[in-house]
Amino acid sequence: MTATKRDYVNENDWAPEEIEKVLDLAARVKARPDGWKTALSGRSLAMIFEKSSTRTRVSFEAGMFQLGGFGMFLSSRDLQLGRGEPISDTARVLSRYVDGIMARTFAHATVEDLAKYASIPVINGLSDLLHPCQALADFLTVRERFGTARGFALCYVGDGNNVAHSLLLTGAKLGARVTIVTPPGYAPDPRVVDWARAAAAGTGGAITITTSVEEGVAGAHAVYTDVWASMGQEGEAAERAKTFEPYRVTRRVFGMAASDAIFLHCLPAHRGEEVEAEVIDSPGSAVFDQAENRLHAQKALLVTLLGDAG
Ligand code: CP
Ligand code: NVA
Repeated sequence: MTATKRDYVNENDWAPEEIEKVLDLAARVKARPDGWKTALSGRSLAMIFEKSSTRTRVSFEAGMFQLGGFGMFLSSRDLQLGRGEPISDTARVLSRYVDGIMARTFAHATVEDLAKYASIPVINGLSDLLHPCQALADFLTVRERFGTARGFALCYVGDGNNVAHSLLLTGAKLGARVTIVTPPGYAPDPRVVDWARAAAAGTGGAITITTSVEEGVAGAHAVYTDVWASMGQEGEAAERAKTFEPYRVTRRVFGMAASDAIFLHCLPAHRGEEVEAEVIDSPGSAVFDQAENRLHAQKALLVTLLGDAG
């Protein structure tokens, strides 16, 4: 791999035009998948998981296969990493075998360290700070449904977590109007909000952080939520369930959005907790398009990072 390898660990490191380009490619790959059947012929991706996954694992593995390459599932429990081998050594060793690394980690610093020590591209498959591949799929879905992300009003209601952070950053880069509504004390990380505001200043996007569901959802074209307790926060689930109760996306809340609004959720979802079944299973729900778009968005990202032009 060359000295100019790129990583997709934090979308804040990517220029708006570069993210737009990945989404443009994703739309082309989705429309004509056969055109990319050999794009990554002979290339392989090591996929390290410290946490559970359905969508990320299967969409990356299937995506590599569909591009003519190979995705290798590696549970951190089975790797020597789980017995204390340093990240730095793991990154350097994997760089001698494969062409890219995708990692789902607890600490964001772990995926940053992988990127620092690997000589091959590293993709963040979710860390405690960010979920950049999810946001790519989310805005691909927005572009399909509404034509553009520019000026698009998306309101996320729930925990100021990794998914909320990537919606802020990717949304800001694409010129969207992103509002995050959380209970007091669960606002997004101020560092991420600062990055998003700086990005939005350059793209005409807008960032709003509030604790008011009414203020946030009014007129939104997408209402988005995620679990109240993320992986690793299971011990806080009972306390969070009480705090987040007024922040459930109910029919009443979804009804405050624009009449043609869509409902989004990264999945997995807990019906009756963060969202009512009547919302996620309604005609306005786009969650399965969103899940499908993980595949197309990530194939575009893989071609961009591991392909001949990458
Ligand atoms: N949305 C998402 O990342 O799902 P998984 O946890 O199943 O990968
Ligand atoms: N915020 C959730 C997203 C899961 C895809 C978590 O980190 O568990």
